[in-house]
This record gives sequence, structure tokens and C-alpha cells, in this order.
Amino acid sequence: MRNAYIAGSGFYVPPRIVTNDDLASEYGIETSDEWIRQRTGIEQRHFADAGTTTSDLAVHASERAIEAAGIDRREIDMVIFATLSPDQFFPGSACFLQQKLGLCDGDDATFVAALDIRNQCSGFVYGLATATSMVRSGQHDNVLLVGSEIHSAALDLTTRGRTVGSLFGDAAGAVIVRATDEDRGVRAWDLGADGRFADQLAMKVFDFHNRPYIATDEAGNGVVPVDLLWPIMEGQVVFRNAIARMIESLTNLCEKEDVALGDIDLFLCHQANLRINQMVQNRIGAPEEKFFNNIQKYGNTTAATIPILIDEAIQAGRLERGMKVALVAFGAGFTWGSALIDW
Ligand code: UT7
Repeated sequence: MRNAYIAGSGFYVPPRIVTNDDLASEYGIETSDEWIRQRTGIEQRHFADAGTTTSDLAVHASERAIEAAGIDRREIDMVIFATLSPDQFFPGSACFLQQKLGLCDGDDATFVAALDIRNQCSGFVYGLATATSMVRSGQHDNVLLVGSEIHSAALDLTTRGRTVGSLFGDAAGAVIVRATDEDRGVRAWDLGADGRFADQLAMKVFDFHNRPYIATDEAGNGVVPVDLLWPIMEGQVVFRNAIARMIESLTNLCEKEDVALGDIDLFLCHQANLRINQMVQNRIGAPEEKFFNNIQKYGNTTAATIPILIDEAIQAGRLERGMKVALVAFGAGFTWGSALIDW
């Protein structure tokens, strides 16, 4: 049977580190290392400099994943790009990445399919399900799947926006989803959404209810009221739903594959808040050593969290061939998803 497995991974974070203390001292936000660390586990995040786009970060992560997979970039036959912070409103960032990777250059240009996934924090899991389906159906052999975000350009980095502003960081993670005849790879997934909560975690800067979609002044320049300019979040609603939906999704996943939660060797959970993951771990009764977290260093990097976890877990010797791995994520929409991989 034709299977799809993760043949290589890579990630990239921009060099500038912003600690919790920096948010207070450099940005003047009324916050503290103690508050952020205690409520979220976050110690620092990386911010890209102005001029850097989401697809720029993705290029670095992709090149590392391509190298780790041991393939030539010309073997990539599809690009899937998960992000909530695209380079532009349109076209999708997968097209920018395809071009920046050189896939459109020269006589051997490949002009492969390029698809954006707009599922926020669960974008990578939705993307993995899509990539696996493409590979298993025989349509594609090597799908480049990327999660990449530049959050720092669209965070209200003042005291007014501190609840959201202190959580997020910039980063990219990538994997190659590759065809194999071996008995391994992505076994199953469970995806879900609850659009009743679409307004609880959102960014409404482009409001197509309005004509035009951004109000204009007399000179015709766009004018955006401050309450539309930045992301909005009902933090405690998100927190509660994240725990419930992640557990529900993992349970559904295990039922589908007829495995017990106790059979999972490693859980790689979306990194939104360390306390969310600790509660998931406690409620499913899993030992701490089966969870691998890195939110302390990067904050919430949305679609990039899971591919970064995969790469760091491999580098740390925590993820090895033969292990049963569960990925799980929850985010805006609300959307959520989990996937089971025999590594
Ligand atoms: O990928 C999905 C994305 N998001 C999430 O998963 C987030 C889920 N939610 C959470 O993680 C938590 O709700 C937060 C960490 C965001 C917030 O924690 P909380 O315990 O729900 O705090 P809160 O929003 O109820 O705010 C409590 C207080 C408020 O002050 P007042 O009104 O009580 O005076 C906030 O203004 O804490 C204040 N506060 C802060 N203080 C210092 C909020 N953010 C900060 C901050 N530093 N960074």
C-alpha cells in the first residue's frame, strides 16, 4: 500500500530574541516576566525585522527540510503553505515560496501546485491531512508542507494589547511528506471546526461587510479604527475550548485507529500555552515525558509550532523510527485537528 511519511524536517527563527522583560523595558508594556511565565510558560520569542515576510522565513525552513529529506528541490511536486500571516492578502504565500525556492527558474522550472491553508493554529495538521491525501492518492510524491508566521508586524505591542501581544512569536517550520511503500507514516487524522466561535479569536482589519472594505478619508486613503487593526481574543473561552477539543480529537483519533492513548509514545501539541498542554496531559493521564514542549523559547508561532516541535524532537533524540506519535492542535475558527503517525 502507498503510504505517506515525513521524510525530513527543518525550522527557522529570525535571530532577534525578545524576552518577557524586553516587552516591558523596550516596548513599554505594563507586564512582567513573572506574569507571562506563570500564565503561559513563555520566556521569550523571536521577532523578525521589518522587511522580512512570512515566505522569507519559510524559505530557510524549507531548505533545511529538503536537505534533511535528502531530495533535490526539483523533486517537490506540490507546495502547501499554512499561515494566518500571509505576505499579502492575495495571492497566497505558497506562490511566493515556490518562486523564492527557485522552482520557477531555468529550463527545468517545475511550476508545481501551490496551495495556501488558512486554518491558523491547526493549519499544519489540516495541511498534513491534505498532503497525505495527495500522496496516498498517487497524485504527488513529495509535498513540501510549511507552517510559517510573522506575528510581530500585526501585534498591538502596547499595554492595551498585552493579552495577545505577549503570546506570539515569528517562526517557520517545514516538512517533506513523501510517498513510500513501507508500512509506516501518517495513519489517520481527526479534523474539526466550530464556526460559532469565529469571532472569539479573529483579525477583522479587512471587513468586507463595508463598502469599501476599509473606510477612506477625503484623500482616498484607507483609515482603520484601532479596534479593527489588531487581533482580538476571548482568552478564557479559547483556553477552555482548546483543552476540551484537543482531548476529544485525540480520543477520536485513537478510536479510528483502534489504539489506546497509552500506546502513544510522543505527543506533540500545538504551543499556545504550556498550561493548556499540561492540563491535556493530566486529563488524559499521560506521563510528562511523553509530552515535548518548546513554547518557552518561541511563544505561540501558530502554524509553525508542530513542524518546529518535530524537528527539535528529532534533534533531541526524542523522536525515533518506530515510535507512535500524535500531533494535536487547536486555534481560531475554532478549528482543531490531530494526526497519528507511525514514525
Ligand atoms: O493558539 C490559540 C491562541 N490563543 C490561546 O490559546 C490563548 C488561550 N488563553 C490563554 O492562554 C489565557 O487566557 C491568557 C494567557 C491569554 C490570559 O490569561 P488569563 O488568566 O485568561 O487572563 P485574563 O485575560 O483574564 O486577564 C487577567 C488580568 C487582566 O487584568 P485585570 O483586568 O484583571 O486588571 C489583564 O489585563 O491580567 C491582565 N493581563 C496581563 N497582565 C500582565 C493580560 N495580559 C497580561 C500581560 N501582563 N501580558
